[in-house]
Amino acid sequence: MRLPRPVPSPAAPAEARRLLARARRISRDLGPAGVAVRLVQRLVPRRILFLEWYDVFEAWAARPGPSIEAGDTEARWADESDAAAAGALFRGEAEIRRRLALGDRGALLLDGGEVVGHLFFTQRPYDENRLVYRTGGDSWWMYDGYVDPRRRGRRLYGRLFGASLNALSQGGRPVRAFSTVDRLNTASQRAAARRGSRIIGRVLTVRAAGVTVSRVRWVGGRPSWRVHRGPRTVTLPGTSRATPGG
Ligand SMILES: CC(C)(COP(=O)(O)OP(=O)(O)OC[C@H]1O[C@@H](n2cnc3c(N)ncnc32)[C@H](O)[C@@H]1OP(=O)(O)O)[C@@H](O)C(=O)NCCC(=O)NCCS
Repeated sequence: MRLPRPVPSPAAPAEARRLLARARRISRDLGPAGVAVRLVQRLVPRRILFLEWYDVFEAWAARPGPSIEAGDTEARWADESDAAAAGALFRGEAEIRRRLALGDRGALLLDGGEVVGHLFFTQRPYDENRLVYRTGGDSWWMYDGYVDPRRRGRRLYGRLFGASLNALSQGGRPVRAFSTVDRLNTASQRAAARRGSRIIGRVLTVRAAGVTVSRVRWVGGRPSWRVHRGPRTVTLPGTSRATPGG
């Protein structure tokens, strides 16, 4: 008996082409390691094998940034009354309230009065999937940058970043902001590079059966491996004599 030939779904080839193009791009930019990380992330459930590969970025304020007040778009710090609008982007109101209650600062990007993006700053120890980063004094941990998908590609994130960092520097005192960017997140990597951040380290985290293996390597240093069940505290490189903005 002859089986009927499967009728290809019109969406399938387009989806396959898209995935192949993405795999090629990852291979070109990040080599086989990038493809391997991507495959594991896509094929293995996170609860079985968690894998994260990211760069640690550093940025200085006190370089003159573009004004965010221009046109219809502006930025300002969030307060509790913004929790619903900011949470509606994707994190949810309760999470935004929790962050603000902890003293984190949320920079909001507004377009015609509507909240279209956010970026958070904290000085409490920041737990990035069992790696705990400590800041304080003039340094901040920056997290959860987000721009509404309909507004992406207009360089709004860089402007939000510049405006908020300049606001934190209060009168031009140099401040540092650290952040992580997934190595496979091309949009975020490009946005980070353009806004003048520089890579100071690279981290790999693998977790299975409650055990985490982490590798931290600062630029110019040796990799430091740890096997841990609980959190690992990571000391960020001390304040260098680097030129602010460099
Ligand atoms: C990362 C992010 C905040 C960047 O915001 P943005 O205002 O679009 O940033 P930019 O306009 O500078 O664009 C950065 C890159 O995004 C890509 N991009 C451009 N248009 C895009 C679009 N319509 N949709 C998605 N990405 C786009 C481009 O690669 C661009 O780089 P290029 O200008 O050199 O080509 C945004 O893409 C986002 O919210 N992503 C989801 C959340 C996220 O990944 N956050 C970062 C966590 S580390």
